[in-house]
Amino acid sequence: MVSMEKKIFDKLRKLVYDKSGISLGDHKEALVTARVGKRMRSMGFEDYEDYLDHLVADQSGQEVVQLLDVISTNVTHFFREAQHFDVLADLLRQWSDEGRSRFRIWCAAASSGEEPYTIAMMMREVLDNSADAKMLATDISTRVLEKAQAGVYEDRHVEKIPEKLLRKYFDKRGGDNKGLWEARQSLKQLIKFGRLNLSEFPYKLKGPLDVIFCRNVMIYFDNDMRSRVLANMYKLLRPGGYLMVGHAESLTGLVSEFKSVRPSVYIKS
Ligand SMILES: C[S@@+](CC[C@H](N)C(=O)[O-])C[C@H]1O[C@@H](n2cnc3c(N)ncnc32)[C@H](O)[C@@H]1O
Repeated sequence: MVSMEKKIFDKLRKLVYDKSGISLGDHKEALVTARVGKRMRSMGFEDYEDYLDHLVADQSGQEVVQLLDVISTNVTHFFREAQHFDVLADLLRQWSDEGRSRFRIWCAAASSGEEPYTIAMMMREVLDNSADAKMLATDISTRVLEKAQAGVYEDRHVEKIPEKLLRKYFDKRGGDNKGLWEARQSLKQLIKFGRLNLSEFPYKLKGPLDVIFCRNVMIYFDNDMRSRVLANMYKLLRPGGYLMVGHAESLTGLVSEFKSVRPSVYIKS
């Protein structure tokens, strides 16, 4: 017989899949029900079924946003999987040398901002100040996007940023906020943050893009969703544009037109 908990988990995971493409495996049952239980009680609900009914009935979609906020895993850090930033710097250098001056980058699962700010540091380091360079940084979670937009990080979170870059692109806050670092305007100016759900197609984004970072998010999707994400990203890139995925996220076995350049780096040829 299927337990009550299992039935609730199955309903929850269907809802989460329908709303975000996130595919929750059986091993996530305890974690998810605990996190959702906390949210549910903070809303005054005692019973999972009542909370689920409320979620489905909520026309505004706001509670679904909150639910996805508590479920999603937002682990990230500055210079995570650092080879990608060397590849990016080389590409920007090469394209500048070829006479390009317009650069458009999309960071598609930006979490709390460490990834887009790392990209922005590379853009500033390589590109001329007169370049027309912009980045869109998106995520499904409004909670992490708020943090990303603020761009304020604790000492322990900036440890991976080389000292020279940290001093150049972040301000140390004094007084009560000692131990906090805030990204400078020179970085913030490059980035526009916004909510974008990767499972809602087509993406409301203006191409053509030069580079897309879509790292460590497709691991939460099933193959069907991954292939759809890839097809939509392919359309947005210009020929010769690049896609970076997480090191554990090979496209092998997926339906996609991307050509592999090296592990976790792909090109639209
Ligand atoms: C593990 S973090 C990875 C962050 C960063 N890309 C990195 O590699 O360090 C995954 C992020 O994907 C976001 N996410 C999950 N499902 C999403 C979806 N359907 N659309 C957009 N973002 C999603 C989560 O909110 C989370 O911030």
